[in-house]
Amino acid sequence: MNILVTGCNGQLGSEFRKISNYEEEHNWSFTDIDTLDICNNKAIEDYLSKNKIDICINCAAYTAVDKAEDEGKESAELINVRAVEYLANNCKSNNILLIHISTDYIFDGTSARAYTENDNACPETVYGKTKYAGEQKIVSSGCSYIIVRTSWLYSSFGNNFVKTMLRLGSERQYVNVVNDQNGNPTWAYDLANAILLLIRRNGVKEIKEVFNFSNDGIIPWSNFAEAIFHIGGKNCEVRSISTEEYGSKAKRPLFSALDKTKIKEFTGIKIPFWRDSLIKCIEEINNNNN
Ligand SMILES: NC(=O)c1ccc[n+]([C@@H]2O[C@H](COP(=O)([O-])OP(=O)(O)OC[C@H]3O[C@@H](n4cnc5c(N)ncnc54)[C@H](OP(=O)(O)O)[C@@H]3O)[C@@H](O)[C@H]2O)c1
Repeated sequence: MNILVTGCNGQLGSEFRKISNYEEEHNWSFTDIDTLDICNNKAIEDYLSKNKIDICINCAAYTAVDKAEDEGKESAELINVRAVEYLANNCKSNNILLIHISTDYIFDGTSARAYTENDNACPETVYGKTKYAGEQKIVSSGCSYIIVRTSWLYSSFGNNFVKTMLRLGSERQYVNVVNDQNGNPTWAYDLANAILLLIRRNGVKEIKEVFNFSNDGIIPWSNFAEAIFHIGGKNCEVRSISTEEYGSKAKRPLFSALDKTKIKEFTGIKIPFWRDSLIKCIEEINNNNN
């Protein structure tokens, strides 16, 4: 099968590039904005007319959650909604399975239990609203799709909370981190492997499904930061503060854990515990000096 990964220079896209170095079952093609701008419908049409693709994994997105609240709003709408609509329509007309990534931020965070795929979306941030609107464009396009909702992504590639904490842990004596937002951290490498399992389980058969995937275990950001310092060997104190005290622009959900029963039943996946994956990622960061 020929798999195209768009947005391949981001965290998740880079994990797929890493995996493609040893995965021999599929033919991989990788594009990012310089080689295939997904906001350019004509460019997508041209690419797909020249290249035979069976599955498109869309890793391209606008992911700057706070910036999306003001100066990034237009870009978020363009990349997370309109471009996703272009991709979905092109996948429909070329008989391509679209695998798209969405987010826990489509929920408002008021649930008393982990969110299932059937829970109603109620996004409160521009980022969350655009990501949910993108999901809806896919559904209404009529294309074959798998939407994977994930949360709190980190990787040895790109910029993320883990790498920021490792840097601050060397520079500062303490950091303030919120202790009232609870969720599931997710190593992008584990997410990429979960998507591969979905592909192996489904092949290119017609499918229209949403799956949740994150690492196992629910924690607040402050505990995550403490674990990063502990594993990363940083002598830095985590001072717990509330979301209100932190005062960021976007109103993030206070609770956004994802229920993974559906993906477990569909693929038989054993989901790694968040701390075990964090240890592996930090080891990779230290080895690569990324
Ligand atoms: N990060 C998280 O915590 C998180 C949590 C839940 C869900 N997700 C979702 O998971 C997916 C992967 O996230 P990620 O963290 O890997 O994202 P990322 O690191 O921000 O990567 C996104 C990639 O898409 C590229 N891109 C932007 N506009 C494009 C365009 N018009 N055409 C082609 N490529 C374009 C970006 O290039 P530039 O860097 O040059 O803009 C970047 O390489 C996204 O759908 C995201 O919404 C992320």
